[in-house]
Amino acid sequence: MLLNSYPKIRLGLFPTPIHRLDNISALLNVNVFIKRDDLTGLGLGGNKVRKLEFLLADARQKGAEVVFTTGGAQSNHAMLTAAAARKLGMKPILILKKRGVTERVGNQLLEYLMGTEVIFMDTDDYADIYAEMDRIGRELGVPYYKIPCGGSNALGSLGYVDCAREISEQGLHFDHLICAEGSGGTMAGLALGAKLFLPGSKVHGMMVDNEPFQEITLALMKEAAALLGTDADIREEDIHLMDLCGPGYAVPSEEGNEAVSLMAREEGLFLDPVYTGKAFAGLLKMAREGAFHKTDNVLFLHSGGAGGLFAIL
Ligand SMILES: Cc1ncc(COP(=O)(O)O)c(C=O)c1O
Repeated sequence: MLLNSYPKIRLGLFPTPIHRLDNISALLNVNVFIKRDDLTGLGLGGNKVRKLEFLLADARQKGAEVVFTTGGAQSNHAMLTAAAARKLGMKPILILKKRGVTERVGNQLLEYLMGTEVIFMDTDDYADIYAEMDRIGRELGVPYYKIPCGGSNALGSLGYVDCAREISEQGLHFDHLICAEGSGGTMAGLALGAKLFLPGSKVHGMMVDNEPFQEITLALMKEAAALLGTDADIREEDIHLMDLCGPGYAVPSEEGNEAVSLMAREEGLFLDPVYTGKAFAGLLKMAREGAFHKTDNVLFLHSGGAGGLFAIL
């Protein structure tokens, strides 16, 4: 297994803690734990730091001076890519979809503080955006590196294979792992990582966008497994998905906002309306529908997203 053979640049603080949510556990009558990837230590924390450790190591190895990425106007991934690129002395350029909250609030404010070049493109097609990256890159005439939306390619997903290994070293068995799924890399990495390091753990992706996530996740798992040279037997049945998108991507849902409030009131922790609030609503739904046994250990991945909390809720 080649996980250690891919270069990684330390950008964050690992391992992130795992702790029990005592009040939520009492309310739901099941043991709920939280993996604090909101404390990954760069920017305001979040899941993208793990992916960027692999992606930017690759960028550096290829001599990149400019790093492009994309996403929605309030993309946490884009903001964290800018933070990581700044830290490593590369120039971040973000080409974002002109959708949602484009004013200087939330992640836009953080990008402004980092002096990041942000270009909004009025398109729904990422192919237009990647073509624009190439156009600008050629014009700049320096080596550049393109990171896809959400950092969700096979290399980025290795960040969450690594996270599964980290969880396996933290000493508790989890029957269920629950994460948000926005572009697929986190879920694919965790699901593959669970096969490799967490036998008996079931990974559930809570979908916060309307994309064909079954196919996306399966393809990413297979590509990441190929990178690792593992013969793990990856099947559709390993992918457990639930639709929590509600009124649309980055549009708050009633159940998501209730979940954000519940976590804040019961545990003094802040989720976000776009990803983790909706994902936690999925966990609450599973608990209410009797999907957990009362002796189960359930691990909720807090994947960050604080920037969006100040712009979207
Ligand atoms: C806070 C947060 N949680 C979860 C996700 C979903 O992760 P992924 O894009 O890997 O599916 C994202 C990114 O899109 C995010 O910003």
